[in-house]
Amino acid sequence: MTGIISVMALVPAPAVVLRPDGVFGQGKSQPYARALHLGSGILTLRDVSPDSAHRLCEVTFDVLSWCSEAGAVERNLLQSLQGPVLDIGCGPGRMLSAARSLGLSAMGIDISADAVALACSRGTRALEQSVFSPVPQAGSWCSVLLLDGNIGIGGNVARLLRRCRQLIAPHGTLLVEADPDDDMDASYQAVLEDSDGNRSEPFAWARTGRRGVEARALAAGWTLAPTERLQGRVFCRLSPFPDRVRPVRSTA
Ligand SMILES: C[S@@+](CC[C@H](N)C(=O)[O-])C[C@H]1O[C@@H](n2cnc3c(N)ncnc32)[C@H](O)[C@@H]1O
Repeated sequence: MTGIISVMALVPAPAVVLRPDGVFGQGKSQPYARALHLGSGILTLRDVSPDSAHRLCEVTFDVLSWCSEAGAVERNLLQSLQGPVLDIGCGPGRMLSAARSLGLSAMGIDISADAVALACSRGTRALEQSVFSPVPQAGSWCSVLLLDGNIGIGGNVARLLRRCRQLIAPHGTLLVEADPDDDMDASYQAVLEDSDGNRSEPFAWARTGRRGVEARALAAGWTLAPTERLQGRVFCRLSPFPDRVRPVRSTA
């Protein structure tokens, strides 16, 4: 995952009750908006679930990488995809900008107004909205991206994969960046915190490695291509399983 500079954890997730109300990095001292405006800084995603069983589920992000240009790995991945591309949780628009430079039509969606404003200031197309709200051109996106830990959006991987199934074109590709740890599988209550101690409200988040992505993808009607491991990052390509054709019963 881009920007993750340290990852500590391998703890199977016990069932936890997640509050659905919080939003990634928002509320209280607004650490995400602050960091985006600075264009740099370290943000730590902390597990604050009431049960302490997986408190070690901590991830650190380097905001500069989100605000910079896409790297070679990301550009190569984009080059392998077809437009139109939908980037879910696009942040300040690194992938959108790269897609445009490669001649791919692309749109981002993000629930953060600050992230969307930055993406638009790069000359890219981004909408301030949740992936769970109605998305324009649903069902016709040839490529959908869930990168940088965004498989954790909403704290329920199965639900997010079902939602992506509604957004993608019948022959499209969903590119999911999985946790570098294949066995990671945790849903939890998180806060985002900057290095000055500014904290967000709690929000539901998840981390899952290749095994968790694969298991839930199959259950949600996807087929999977072999996993790609590139510079320590893990990418899964999912395609919608063709809707089953019901056998026609003879009435004779
Ligand atoms: C881990 S950051 C990823 C950063 C981003 N990929 C980038 O390149 O800068 C998660 C992003 O997902 C966005 N997000 C969180 N919940 C969302 C939702 N329900 N719908 C759309 N975006 C969401 C956050 O606002 C944030 O920008």
